[in-house]
Amino acid sequence: MGETMGNLRRTSMCGELRPGDEGKEVVLMGWAQRERNLGSLIFVDIRDTTGIAQIVFDDTISDDIFKKAEKIRSEYVIAVKGVVRLRQSANPEIPTGEVEVLAQELRILDEADTPPIYIKDDDNVSESMRLKYRYLDLRKPSMQANLKLRAKAAKVVRDFFYENNFVEVETPTLTKPTPEGARDYLVPSRVNPGEFYALPQSPQLLKQLLMVSGMDRYYQIVKCFRDEDLRANRQPEFTQIDIEMSFVDVDDVISINEKFLYTLFKELKGIEIELPIKRMTYKEAMERFGVDKPDLRFGFELIDISEEVSESMFKVFSSAVENGGAVKGINVKGYGNDFTRKDISSLEEYTKTYGAKGLAWMKITDEGITSPIAKFLEEEELNGILSKMDGEVGDLLLFVADKLSVVSDSLGNLRNEVAKRLNIIEKDDLKLVWITEFPFFEYDEEEKRYVAKHHPFTSPMDEDIHLLESDPEVVRARAYDIVINGDEMGGGSIRINNSDLQSKMFKALGFSEEEAQDKFGFLLEAFKYGTPPHGGIAYGLDRLIMTLTNTSNIRDVIAFPKTQSATCLLTDAPTTVSDKQLLEAHIKVNLENNK
Ligand code: AMO
Ligand code: AMP
Repeated sequence: MGETMGNLRRTSMCGELRPGDEGKEVVLMGWAQRERNLGSLIFVDIRDTTGIAQIVFDDTISDDIFKKAEKIRSEYVIAVKGVVRLRQSANPEIPTGEVEVLAQELRILDEADTPPIYIKDDDNVSESMRLKYRYLDLRKPSMQANLKLRAKAAKVVRDFFYENNFVEVETPTLTKPTPEGARDYLVPSRVNPGEFYALPQSPQLLKQLLMVSGMDRYYQIVKCFRDEDLRANRQPEFTQIDIEMSFVDVDDVISINEKFLYTLFKELKGIEIELPIKRMTYKEAMERFGVDKPDLRFGFELIDISEEVSESMFKVFSSAVENGGAVKGINVKGYGNDFTRKDISSLEEYTKTYGAKGLAWMKITDEGITSPIAKFLEEEELNGILSKMDGEVGDLLLFVADKLSVVSDSLGNLRNEVAKRLNIIEKDDLKLVWITEFPFFEYDEEEKRYVAKHHPFTSPMDEDIHLLESDPEVVRARAYDIVINGDEMGGGSIRINNSDLQSKMFKALGFSEEEAQDKFGFLLEAFKYGTPPHGGIAYGLDRLIMTLTNTSNIRDVIAFPKTQSATCLLTDAPTTVSDKQLLEAHIKVNLENNK
């Protein structure tokens, strides 16, 4: 059983002791990180949220205390009173390495079983163990640092938007479905049998209503819920920095948000990002990088060689062009020797996961061209390709022929993969870009209809409105994303503030008038009573923290995250519930379809 603190009160934090504290009497409290018993001397490292200090027990203390110190094991919670002195041999690895505390008093506040995971940053424990014992995992300095940085970021957000006259308004969690493209998490209503709330995918409709209310500028740090396939940078429950402004156009939203991003990176990383942030249209991003979230930290841009190969004897190329597709390539400039045939086959397998049927390649060496397809190409054609691709000795050229969407997707992702394999990305490099003029519509193969690429409240660009019915696929939206190092950090748009245009958009999206009324009638009605032009944006806070901490796993910046299958290994959620709870919620569980 543990002892009480008695009359000991903490005077100092472990990580703060320095040579200037020599001779000072201190009381430290924390966890035993490591103990070494040398017989007449015992060393214990004590850890709290600020760091580690070394404690020494020697023969200047009573036998009772010395015996108690012998019992200390890893993760025991202890309180120690003692005097700071300089160490005989300093440890330059830790900030407190020049000092130690000679113990005079010890209290074991709680004993601990041997922990199932080491409290150490670079252990190789499985992620499922880390998630099951999250409270132990969070004792690690790196995890504590991530959570502290997250807290500081939230403060910077609040300070910045408060100072710029934004009002933080809380919107409800029990609400109506918001169309952001994912499945809803539903909550049954006990008092309204058979009816359900949806947890918000975002506060989109409510923040627009706040503009109708005349709030002028709104922001909120808010939990959002999306039942979608999880990836490395997605969680079913995540946090947005959500923003909406009245009487603005695209440039106004972008301008204040650039100031915000500048402040965020300055305060948290000491980095001054260059303003204005580069802008690129969606069209240019797709042409040059194959994806709408280009990583601008390296080259290897997509180059269209469709014209050069349209008459080729190599049918893979010419027939792709003939069928309305394209042939594009990337030049892995100067890195030809870094890829063996085996490496290239593995890149080919990689592109196949994005639907490519193959990956044609050419290596340019001193001896000439090595390539499985060179024999199919006329000399003039080959020269045309080399000149377009700026092919020089030492380069590796990689090509995909297919319909344009497959070419873009596979080469766009291959480009990132090649840079990753080459390990050429500088850790601290930061490349921000606004992607603008997104297409309004996107064809949904599953539903066989157009859906809104951003969301149905986004305003089309004025010059494209007349094409809504005749040519929907070329209509561009007043929508923008902020992309950092190839990841989408946030997205937003200027909204429609006119019920006629909104009804027209619903129609173009295939909603009947009745459906539109049923889903969004409250918004359409609100728009009748004087709606300012408005627009906004939402950032994924978790993703921003990932960037700020150089973390590739979203779970490492969230205290209690979910697994890839949306479970919590710590609490075991989700779980079955009692029959009584089901009855009260008017729910009958049917697992027939899952058998
Ligand atoms: P959008 O759907 O683009 O826009 O979401 C905004 C940002 O939220 C983050 N995000 C996520 N982060 C972690 N896990 C997820 N599952 C997840 N889904 C999205 C991304 C994304 O850029 N209401 C609009 C915004 C607006 O128009 O103002 C919206 O939600 O970083
Ligand atoms: P094949 O004639 O099918 O053996 O293909 C010859 C080369 O072309 C191989 O290196 C294939 O990987 C490549 N290839 C096949 N289909 C495509 C395609 N659609 N785009 C690019 N390269 C391809």
